[in-house]
Amino acid sequence: MSSKIAQIRLVHSHPEVYEPCDDSFALVDALLADRVNLLEHRPTLCMEVGCGSGYVITSLALMLGEDDSGIHYIATDINPHAVQVTHATLEAHGVHAELINTNIASGLEKRLARSVDVIVVNPPYVPTPEDEVGREGIASAWAGGENGRSVIDKILPIAEKLLSDRGWLYLVTLTTNNPSQICLQMREKGYASRIVIQRSTEEENLHIIKFWRDFEIQLTTKEVPTNKTVPSRVMDTLLSQVHRLSFKKSSNSSSS
Ligand SMILES: C[S@@+](CC[C@H](N)C(=O)[O-])C[C@H]1O[C@@H](n2cnc3c(N)ncnc32)[C@H](O)[C@@H]1O
Repeated sequence: MSSKIAQIRLVHSHPEVYEPCDDSFALVDALLADRVNLLEHRPTLCMEVGCGSGYVITSLALMLGEDDSGIHYIATDINPHAVQVTHATLEAHGVHAELINTNIASGLEKRLARSVDVIVVNPPYVPTPEDEVGREGIASAWAGGENGRSVIDKILPIAEKLLSDRGWLYLVTLTTNNPSQICLQMREKGYASRIVIQRSTEEENLHIIKFWRDFEIQLTTKEVPTNKTVPSRVMDTLLSQVHRLSFKKSSNSSSS
């Protein structure tokens, strides 16, 4: 099985489409770091929300294979130019994905409900004034509204509806997006999480977080309202995760 990823020289571009950058590379590195698990996981349907140039979905298709593996790939983007560029990038690498120009997964919810095994997202996460979110063209690539969370907070509940019972979500976040709060929020919905890659660049501190359904969490979370206490093993895991995240955050800010 190939462990190749997309080649930058074969990635197409357009002035209105986000070019692969540190965040795109960190996401692909996280997928590579988790590749053995992904292969063992045997996904049948993989999806990228916000495919931009196609660098990530192409890399995923090259990493996991296509025809012999029986994996189907879908990618969406709100920017029609991104869909065209992704098509060209996939073609240049000899791989294929179904491409849809839509807002997150609008129009696909019914067809894909609880059936996507892997979702990857490098969302617009830069804190901006709210009115910059969802603008046409390249601005939609980064404008994330207050705390950079506007689009992320719309994507998460949709991803949750699309993920299969064994579905995994890989999400790019910045420290300013408050990743520990995202993890807690997802935990309340029954998802465990771990940081696959944490990377500081000159401009940003990136976390690539992996989420997966954890039925033990779902059961114990349901116990909370009746017992009015959080089971200690849940609280221990929760606190250790939050501590880990805040520790990383503070050690990074003290070193910068
Ligand atoms: C930071 S770029 C990432 C592009 C590519 N995935 C990468 O990693 O290089 C975010 C992408 O999400 C797309 N996007 C923004 N809002 C979206 C939405 N509501 N639905 C679908 N795509 C969206 C943008 O057009 C852009 O291509």
